[in-house]
Amino acid sequence: MSTVIDESISAGIMKESELFALEQKYCSAGDTVHYLDPPKLFDRAEGHYLYDRKNTPYLDLQMWYSAASFGYGNQRLNQVLKDQIDKLPQLACQYLHEEKIELAAAIGRLNKSKFGLDGRVHFNVGGSQAIEDSLKLVRNSTGKNLVFAFMGGYHGRTLGASAITSSYRYRRRYGHFSDRAHFVPFPYCFRCPYGKKREDCNLYCVDQFAKNFETEYNSFWDAKVSESEFVAFYAEPIQATGGYVIPPAEYFPALKKILDERNILLVDDEIQMGFYRAGKFWAMENFNVEPDIIVFGKALTNGLNPLSGLWAREELIAPEVFPPGATHSTFSSNPLGTAIGLEVVRMIEEDNYGELTRRKGAYFLAQIRELQRRYPRVIGDTNGIGMALRIEICREDGYEPDRELTHRMFAEGMKGDLDARGRRSGLVLDIGGYYKNVFTLAPCFDMTEEEIDIAVELIEQLIVRCAPDRLSH
Ligand SMILES: Cc1ncc(COP(=O)(O)O)c(C=O)c1O
Repeated sequence: MSTVIDESISAGIMKESELFALEQKYCSAGDTVHYLDPPKLFDRAEGHYLYDRKNTPYLDLQMWYSAASFGYGNQRLNQVLKDQIDKLPQLACQYLHEEKIELAAAIGRLNKSKFGLDGRVHFNVGGSQAIEDSLKLVRNSTGKNLVFAFMGGYHGRTLGASAITSSYRYRRRYGHFSDRAHFVPFPYCFRCPYGKKREDCNLYCVDQFAKNFETEYNSFWDAKVSESEFVAFYAEPIQATGGYVIPPAEYFPALKKILDERNILLVDDEIQMGFYRAGKFWAMENFNVEPDIIVFGKALTNGLNPLSGLWAREELIAPEVFPPGATHSTFSSNPLGTAIGLEVVRMIEEDNYGELTRRKGAYFLAQIRELQRRYPRVIGDTNGIGMALRIEICREDGYEPDRELTHRMFAEGMKGDLDARGRRSGLVLDIGGYYKNVFTLAPCFDMTEEEIDIAVELIEQLIVRCAPDRLSH
């Protein structure tokens, strides 16, 4: 039987050029980004490698923006998905299933043990949607709309999430639907927004934030009723899309003190850094502060299902204040996602991923610091926490962002012709940062030290190929 669909699509594998032509005609350009021309097409994935159609391996140092932290084709997690497909693959969320309840209980108990707080978990699909739910929760419990967020932060692309993401580019086409956040400078010490040096700044940025509440006439604070105009602060503990920017250890405790004094909720966006990316279950644990709401997604299912969710303190989410049907979606606590999520949480607790990610991350960081020492006219800054690492590509002065070289290195890695100790290989890097000059590394947790060495050798080959005139000190 011939249909319109199979007339246009050949029976066998289509040529790449044919696929690109179809993509040009039928795919929206708006739901992705094309950094390469022609774009890269991958065929399969295994461990921390992506393979193109010629079977060339590409070592992936970004693992789907940290969604696939536990490796492509992770046998344990894949098996759970396969078993769940045979057992209970679909179920409307109005009915209960065991995996949803157990996953919520596991996260609830974990947070009780970490923060001493009771709370509940609310599921959805996609990080941005979980951010939307958190905005509703904030509005519902405080009766107010206005929130703070960081400059350089990223919370997603739904209308509400874009309104608390500092980039105007993400809002320009669509106008304003929700209240735009008040954006506060993030402590990006390599490029301090106040031009200070960390050694003697005494957290000037925190003092500046505190000033917002100091006087009656130029303030977000009404001292007569002890009430803040802004009711929540949205924070990524480590800015992800912003370039894996790690704040100084003292920053969040100092900020939280002000938030507590002004009754402002701390909403911790762990969508990219949660599940041990930054060496702790939640990245915010590195800073010893207790969030009121935690939003998560991505690695919760190792990227096998778009399940996301939030955890909130009991006072904010108890059924008396946030009743049945307060906000939900068809796919929210879908059984495939919750089954994998539950296995992820079990697996990371059994296997001590805290020790593993901190040890391997420290090893990786030492290697890229050595690269920075050898190539100071290419790399301006390196840093890392757990297995979230950054390499900032700069001009010869080691400071001016070199966006162009960053892109060239990225594109060179995508050619697939690097030499991984005698084996032809590509390298998958992701570019982030305020100036699009930062390689944000989110390597697979399973990489061995030898594989980390190979990854660093591949990065060095990119430097040698793309900046041959800047190799000397
Ligand atoms: C910190 C953070 N928040 C929110 C989001 C949005 O999540 P999603 O792309 O799943 O909607 C992202 C995605 O990259 C993110 O990194």
